[in-house]
Amino acid sequence: EVLAALRGLPVLITAGPTREALDPVRCLTNHSSGKMGYALAQALTAAGAEVTLIAGPTALPRPALDQFVAVESALDMYAQVLARVAECAIFIAAAAVADYRPASPLPTKFKKHTADLTLHLTRNPDILADVAARIAPPFTVGFAAETVTTVEELADLATAKRLNKRLNMIAANRVGGDSGGFERDDNALLVLWDGGNHHLPLQSKTQLAAALTILIAERYALSTAS
Ligand code: PMT
Repeated sequence: EVLAALRGLPVLITAGPTREALDPVRCLTNHSSGKMGYALAQALTAAGAEVTLIAGPTALPRPALDQFVAVESALDMYAQVLARVAECAIFIAAAAVADYRPASPLPTKFKKHTADLTLHLTRNPDILADVAARIAPPFTVGFAAETVTTVEELADLATAKRLNKRLNMIAANRVGGDSGGFERDDNALLVLWDGGNHHLPLQSKTQLAAALTILIAERYALSTAS
């Protein structure tokens, strides 16, 4: 049985959005609900893996996991992932990490003075790319969230992301508009790896996570066999 490859394996998963503070009461964030990453944590735990879930702020109930780490910002998530990645065999990045953060968050609530306000943003580190670039990286699974209409465009953008970030596998989904993967309970994924792909049609994130877990187990087992 293919899931046996996961039994006892340390697996690190990121989930949810990040919050980038502008001041003590305001932030930049996105529409990730955490559902996809939480469902993956559950599916991998059910398969016998030792899961650590590192999650940004969500409205979901705290998962029944021994290893659960709540974070706020991309820099927090980066630090918590880096502190644990050396011990993990598989890393799955389902989080919607903010690519930018306010360059100088203010220590007190800012007051409105002008009609317009310009924000100065600075790049956040890419957690997934830095994990995959390690000397001895774990088996690394990324996600790609793209506002495209065709499956060909989705495949092209996700393949570029997989190659640029040197990932073992990438799960691509459309976001934005009605068909998006954010927030809702169901989603569809196009999963791509070196030399293959598999389309997982629209289904609940719980079912999707179980199907993706099987694909991960298959590819992980092959990567350790060679
Ligand atoms: O949380 P839900 O509401 O269930 O929605 C699920 C989802 C749409 C958030 C999920 O399926 C998904 O696509 N997650 C990745 C969202 C994203 O940020 O995609 P991206 O294409 O911008 O990033 C590519 C990959 O790099 C992702 O694996 C991301 O976790 C990772 N990344 C990105 C930026 C960064 N600074 N660090 C990262 O690790």
